[in-house]
This record gives sequence, C-alpha cells and structure tokens, in this order.
Amino acid sequence: MSDRIPLVLLPGMPLDAALWEHQTGHLADVAEPAVGDLTGQDSMATLAAAVLAQAPERFALAGLSMGGYVAFEILRQAPERVAKLALLDTSARPDTPEQTATRQDAVRLVGQGRLRQVMAAGMPRLVHPDRTGEPALVDSVQAQAQRIGPEGYVRQQTAIMSRPDSRPGLGAIACPTLVLCGRQDAITPPALHEEMAEGIPGARLVLIEDCGHLSAMERPQAVTALLRQWLLYA
Ligand code: MLT
Repeated sequence: MSDRIPLVLLPGMPLDAALWEHQTGHLADVAEPAVGDLTGQDSMATLAAAVLAQAPERFALAGLSMGGYVAFEILRQAPERVAKLALLDTSARPDTPEQTATRQDAVRLVGQGRLRQVMAAGMPRLVHPDRTGEPALVDSVQAQAQRIGPEGYVRQQTAIMSRPDSRPGLGAIACPTLVLCGRQDAITPPALHEEMAEGIPGARLVLIEDCGHLSAMERPQAVTALLRQWLLYA
C-alpha cells in the first residue's frame, strides 16, 4: 500500500490543471496529486460538494485564489477529511461591492465573446508586472481560460461573487496550515495572507519574492519546494 498522502490541488479562476503542472510533476514521489475540477457549478457550496465527492476519504488540500475560496467551503462541510491545508494567493474575505461590480462588467464582456480580451486586460494584475511579456506564461493562462470557456468563466465568477466571509471560521481550522503569497500579488495582496495566518492557529506564512498572483506558475520551483516541506513535515 502506498504511504503517499493524497493531495487535492484546486486551481484559481479561470484556470485548470496546467496551473499546477510543476507541482503535480514534482511532488508525485511524496504525494498522490489530483487537480479538482471547479468548472461545473456556480456556488461555493456545490463546488465544494463536487470536489468532496471525487476526493479520497482524507487528503492534503491546496487551493490557489478561487481554489482557496473553495478550500474554506470544504473545511466548513467536511473538516475531518482535510489532513493539512495550503492557502495560496487567496483571501478569507468576501467581495467588496467594487469587486462585484468589476466581475459583473467582466461577465458582460465575456458574454459578448470577449474572454480573450478580458484575460489580456487583467494580465498585469494576474502576474507580476515584469512577466506580462513572457509568452510561455501568458499563452498558458490564455489557453487555460479558453479551455474553461465563457460558460465556465461565468459560473466561476457567479460562485466567487456570492462567496461567504470565511474569516469567522479561521480560528476553528485545526490542521497544519501553510499560507503562501507572492510579494507582488495585486489581486490578493500579502496583508490578506497576514490576516489568514494570524487567524489560523499555528499557521505558517511565507511570502515569495518577485512573484505575483499566480505563484504556482510564476515561481514553480519555490512553490513546489514549500509544498514538499508542508507535505512531509507540517
Ligand atoms: C483567481 O485567481 O481565482 C481569481 O483572480 C480570484 C478572484 O478574482 O477573486
């Protein structure tokens, strides 16, 4: 029987397993990685239930951005199934009215067939500003968004807009927790991670230098090394 721990990786929006490519490729000696599908539902409650229905009985859980929002909901629904938790470039807070308005604008444009343009316009906030000219990174983000597609994009934004405030539950998170953030994350900046790490008993906070919101792709070796430590020793 394998003693590798099952590892459920949840991507951000509107991204897929390619976000976690380095981690799934380089952690398979210590974990059994599987990437959750966050495309088929339009609420955090139903997304979390869908992930739980596919997941092993007990697992390590890592969520980036929207994946973190879903991770909080998984902890509300089935805390006993989560052996350890990694929150990357995410937030425990709900949307502000301004964030919701921006999402509604994006949903309208995507409904008009402009997903590629919406993603291009958002790129300077999605990745470190120095990386917006890196074709491998930008092309992969665009390809992932195309695979999620306009309908998946709208479902994901709908779920994100109506997500609950996860701050009241932080103190009840009882598993070993890593909180990780790119220093230049413009979407969910470091202060939001300090808030989560202060709220979760015993959490470890790490800021990754020279890194924007998509840490798993922007600094893949650093993120994989931190997740390896967390999987083995947390
Ligand atoms: C994500 O990466 O999942 C999104 O940027 C999250 C968000 O817009 O709140």
